Amino acid sequence: MEFETLCLHADGNKKDEWGTLTQAVCQSATFVHKGVGVPSDYSYSRLSNPTRTHLENTVAALEGGVVAYAFSSGMAAITTVMKLFEGGSHIIASEDLYGGSLRLFNNVNSHEGMSFDFTDTGDLKKVESLIKPQTVALYIETPSNPLMMVSDIAALSALAKAHKLLLIVDNTFLTPYFQRPIELGADIVIHSGTKYLGGHNDALAGFAVVNSADLAERLGYYYKTIGACLAPWECFLIERGIKTLPLRMDRINYNAQKIAAWLRGRREVKRVYYVGFEDHAGYSVSKKQSAGFGGMISVELESKELAERILKGVKVFQYAESLGGVESLITYPMLQTHADVPKEERERRGINDRFLRLSVGIENVNDLIEDLKQVFEK
Ligand SMILES: Cc1ncc(COP(=O)(O)O)c(C=O)c1O
Repeated sequence: MEFETLCLHADGNKKDEWGTLTQAVCQSATFVHKGVGVPSDYSYSRLSNPTRTHLENTVAALEGGVVAYAFSSGMAAITTVMKLFEGGSHIIASEDLYGGSLRLFNNVNSHEGMSFDFTDTGDLKKVESLIKPQTVALYIETPSNPLMMVSDIAALSALAKAHKLLLIVDNTFLTPYFQRPIELGADIVIHSGTKYLGGHNDALAGFAVVNSADLAERLGYYYKTIGACLAPWECFLIERGIKTLPLRMDRINYNAQKIAAWLRGRREVKRVYYVGFEDHAGYSVSKKQSAGFGGMISVELESKELAERILKGVKVFQYAESLGGVESLITYPMLQTHADVPKEERERRGINDRFLRLSVGIENVNDLIEDLKQVFEK
């Protein structure tokens, strides 16, 4: 089946006794045993639940993985994946990452005895130079949040395999519609399902998809033990979102290309971070490994005053944290997603008081451009 069809039919359209078309929300914490020592297919919803299984099977099929686990948020997924590693383990991660992942690595996992090196994972030599006997994994976002840095998944996979490391890819920004890391050699794919997969800014979710039965078993143990699994109603919402993922991503991709080009033409915009520009450092890798550029754009503006004017003045775009939904959002990373990154480090990377991140939605692109224009020209 092609991807668009999988979004609707990946789990084989099994029917219950009523022939329900959509997967029923199985709002039951527990399941009655068939006999003494004979459980039903399900026993307790922390371990598994029919609505969740349906969603997990869909996401595993879309990512080309062996098993997907659905979590209560993206951070719950990442936290549980990190349990695969013992104290003393060393991980090399992209230097530009979602702030919550940085906080987890620096302030939680490192207290548990793990250590991290952050580097430009687009530079293979730099990554290789950081590998040491304790290194267990490479952890990347590509494109990264919020600087849109690109890493070559296939090349990193070859490096990881040569050194017996796991390659973990956060695929939130592009989704499997545009990029399938497991096909490119990744071992674990992570999602904030809150974003494009759900797509409607109405539910939190996370996923970890693995490429082997061994990893499925190891991660499955932590998943059922830690219990940060996704509740049935949220599973239903995310599944419903996935049905229109290709349509939304196409529209978002189209809108973002137009908006990025428009922003680049404005004298008030000093720099536009967008992977779809031919002169973006990661453009050729993007073309090779992804079928689209996605809907994320960051900008460095001429002044803090303009950044604040935009945040206060937009009418169609909404000033809110998060991304990947049908509504276009603008975020001030300095005060929101990356507020916990030390100021010096943040500024060194360009995440300053003139830096905004846009998540382009599915509105008519002319309305979005008009919305930005009216604040630029106020
Ligand atoms: C790239 C990326 N990964 C992970 C997360 C965490 O996901 P959640 O907010 O669902 O916990 C986010 C959240 O913004 C994100 O942008």
